[in-house]
Amino acid sequence: MKDSIRHLIQQALTRLTAEGVLPDGLSPTIQVENTRDKTHGDFASNIAMMLAKPAGMKPRDLAQKLIDALPADAQISKVEIAGPGFLNFFQNSDALAERLEAALADEHLGVRKSGPAQRVVVDLSSPNLAKEMHVGHLRSTIIGDAVARVLEFLGDEVIRQNHVGDWGTQFGMLLAFMEENPAAAESELADLEGFYRAAKKRFDESPEFAERARALVVALQAGEPECLRLWNRFNAISLSHCQKAYDRLGVKLTPADVKGESAYNADLANVVADLRSKGLLTEDNGAQCVFLDEYKNAEGNPLPVIVQKAGGGYLYSTTDLAAMRYRSQVLKADRALYFVDQRQALHFQMAFEVARRAGFVHAGMELEHMGFGTMNGADGRPFKTRDGGTVKLIDLLDEAELRAYELVKERNDQRAAKGETPFEEAELREIGRVVGIASVKYADLSKHRTSDYSFNFELMLSFEGNTAPYLLYAYTRTASIFRKLGKGTEEIGGHIELQAPQEIELAGKLAQFGEVLSSVADKGTPHLLCAYLYDVAGLFSSFYEHCPVLSAEDEGTRQSRLRLAALTRRTLKQGLQLLGLETLERM
Ligand code: ARG
Repeated sequence: MKDSIRHLIQQALTRLTAEGVLPDGLSPTIQVENTRDKTHGDFASNIAMMLAKPAGMKPRDLAQKLIDALPADAQISKVEIAGPGFLNFFQNSDALAERLEAALADEHLGVRKSGPAQRVVVDLSSPNLAKEMHVGHLRSTIIGDAVARVLEFLGDEVIRQNHVGDWGTQFGMLLAFMEENPAAAESELADLEGFYRAAKKRFDESPEFAERARALVVALQAGEPECLRLWNRFNAISLSHCQKAYDRLGVKLTPADVKGESAYNADLANVVADLRSKGLLTEDNGAQCVFLDEYKNAEGNPLPVIVQKAGGGYLYSTTDLAAMRYRSQVLKADRALYFVDQRQALHFQMAFEVARRAGFVHAGMELEHMGFGTMNGADGRPFKTRDGGTVKLIDLLDEAELRAYELVKERNDQRAAKGETPFEEAELREIGRVVGIASVKYADLSKHRTSDYSFNFELMLSFEGNTAPYLLYAYTRTASIFRKLGKGTEEIGGHIELQAPQEIELAGKLAQFGEVLSSVADKGTPHLLCAYLYDVAGLFSSFYEHCPVLSAEDEGTRQSRLRLAALTRRTLKQGLQLLGLETLERM
């Protein structure tokens, strides 16, 4: 709706420019917002205030000219001027009801991508295999997963790429340790973190061990078979740990999505050779560099992207350049989204620039770093265990499930005390699992990805506010209506008629699902979908409070309200699913 209002305003502006009321050459960004107070209509724009000065008119006068020039539209019942010169748009509730009917009749809730479908590479999760996956990779995994799901729902073709760190010098140390303790390695690898620490200790203590480790890196890079065997064994174990975390998180990643750094190894020499033949390389202290003039260090000197070290070794950037070329030329992507820590922003800006200059990616390909902030502890400091260690993702999920279980158990006891049928133990465990995982994921997804946030179990497990328990509970309320009715959402006759203000507000929100999903897809920001679902749940609850559904005064109203409840139910379910959250019918 906002898009179509923007379009209407654009037409009015064009007309006023042609008539000489507005000067040529204005191309303002037209802002359209939801109004807070519905007596001021449903949408508002400040365009008349923005253009008053260049037009040399009073804002309210320009607003009137704009209203006169606006083309008629069936969706809009009237437009008014308010305050200093806002344009307030009122939706036509019959047209709105019709849109909702169309959504109800469509498996896809009436949502379609407006532009052409694209092929999109989503680079997500991408942990380093040398160590256990830790909480830092949670964000990359679940934000990337949510955006990938939204893109797919809108009709894009998504190629997930788990660019795991499975190459590099730390593997020499790990292989040397495996070689030294073949028997112990098997059992100790169950705890990668401990294994890494033990290997590091040996490395620091014993010069012979360190030397062996370095020799093994060289042997690995030369493809020595025994070395490769150990390396494969190690990676298989580490990846199986990751896969366990993905499965528990309900993230759509499989072993087939793994395309690690090592996969590009054979191409790294070509990357450097191609940069050289394009005249982009400069040697600096023996290292091969691409200097980008627009990036300067603190002293004002150009910063290099180093693609080969003086000793001949390749770097993280070299691998990323090879990966970009692969994504453009082999995967034929129109767009590549990188869900990686914000602290790598400069790396990506520079690597993207080098890839463009070198022609490694086709000119139309969009490369976007979807950076995210740090997850801190409740104290606002980087998230650590009590003894200062990194928190393992799996431990965090265990705790979340346990806490959620205890919470639902408590509510269950209260239910029993009131004489209601309590849940069985197995059901409680299942509810605890779904609520626990959803809470961890939702707490993360609901924050703007670029901000740091504090991990806080109490807040994320609260039944009030913008939390998973609140939304999952709201969803179960829609379930209970249809359970009481004994019918499915698709079995309701009649049609939607919007009368009460609560019905109109809920309806207006439900009609915005598609717009919200497009923004999530464009900007890679699932928090917009979270905020939207939270609004839907809140509006549904005031609708439910003010507008009796099952006991509505007449059959037509009853059916209309049931249809609204059905669409709410499907929108919440679809939205939560796109965020990667499971739903419950009762809790
Ligand atoms: N393994 C890297 C890390 O943990 C993230 C890789 C992200 N993807 C990429 N194409 N660079 O920091």
